[in-house]
Amino acid sequence: MDYRISIAGSDVAFRCEAGETLLDAAERSGYSVPYSCRKGVCSTCEGCVVAGAGRSTVQGEVQGPAERVLLCCLRPSSDMTIAPRKVEKREPVVRKTLDMSVYRITQPAADVSVVQLRLPTGVRAKFRAGQYLQIELEDGSRRNYSMANPPHESDSIQLHVRHVQGGRFSEGVLRGLEKGQKLRVELPFGEFMLQDDSTSPAILLATGTGFAPVKSIVEDAIKRKLERPMYLYWGARREEDLYLAELARKWHTSGKLAFVPVLSQPHDSWTGRRGFVHEAVLDDFGSLAGYQVYACGNPAMTSAAHDTFAEAGLPEPDFFSDAFVHTDTRP
Ligand SMILES: Cc1cc2nc3c(=O)[nH]c(=O)nc-3n(C[C@H](O)[C@H](O)[C@H](O)COP(=O)(O)OP(=O)(O)OC[C@H]3O[C@@H](n4cnc5c(N)ncnc54)[C@H](O)[C@@H]3O)c2cc1C
Ligand code: FES
Repeated sequence: MDYRISIAGSDVAFRCEAGETLLDAAERSGYSVPYSCRKGVCSTCEGCVVAGAGRSTVQGEVQGPAERVLLCCLRPSSDMTIAPRKVEKREPVVRKTLDMSVYRITQPAADVSVVQLRLPTGVRAKFRAGQYLQIELEDGSRRNYSMANPPHESDSIQLHVRHVQGGRFSEGVLRGLEKGQKLRVELPFGEFMLQDDSTSPAILLATGTGFAPVKSIVEDAIKRKLERPMYLYWGARREEDLYLAELARKWHTSGKLAFVPVLSQPHDSWTGRRGFVHEAVLDDFGSLAGYQVYACGNPAMTSAAHDTFAEAGLPEPDFFSDAFVHTDTRP
């Protein structure tokens, strides 16, 4: 059994199979709607149900008309008319599940590991800068991690993994990982990507390992010789938490972008910017009209940036984010 899903105010419609989420059905049919975590945590996929009924794994029974419905978790139980925040026609998403081998693990900061994975011989990973993958754990649950390498380095994948206290992957699995061991991953996921149809200056905002997708985006932009002005604000508690600051400084000194490190709990010797990273942006720019903002990392930061930047004149469609929420995602 399947249902007809119509997009309000347009002639777009697609079929959604029983048990399928609206997000999955839209992607399968070649339509993209905004999303990030796919788990009902980040709210990026929020939209309205104009008519029809469904069941959500996080919001229970949903009967239209209803607002603020998470489309990543909603499975229809009738034909529906919905109003996502945005719908675009895209090629249907093609994802691959691959067994990648661990090639190298380094630990550039006390709570961050950089994990280098190799693809099977002759296989290339197709993704866009800023996207993420899902690692499948033995119990079938999944964890989201952003690719830190640019797409043109397609024979391997680099991940920046923050160690989460009690984390089944970042403490448990990671601790025992050795060179040559395999990890099953599915990729690519995500809508956190530099918008190529814009030439507005881009403000890249990261906390902690939110630097991973930003690194991919910047290295891709350098490779593609994009002329677009870019500003990178990277926030952390202490200087040693900016685990690849040398790389960001190199981009700065070679004129690729302006790098501003911002520390919230610096040592006394720190002479740079202090405070919260999104507040540093507000201090420096005043009005954000005419910019695009790409924010990634701590959900409290992405949420505060979203709200305060809107007040500072940033139009909603020019704010893009991946909030690094907890993602014990079961397929
Ligand atoms: C789109 C996306 C991309 C991501 N990319 C990255 C990335 O590149 N690098 C990275 O380090 N993380 C990233 N994350 C976050 C990462 O997927 C989660 O932190 C993940 O749950 C960690 O798995 P774990 O098995 O180590 O911990 P879990 O076993 O999942 O969690 C253990 C405990 O820690 C808590 N917890 C887990 N993660 C967080 C968190 N982020 N904040 C607060 N509490 C938490 C849980 O609630 C739980 O109590 C991303 C998340 C999303 C949604
Ligand atoms: S809540 Fe649906 S994508 Fe995050």
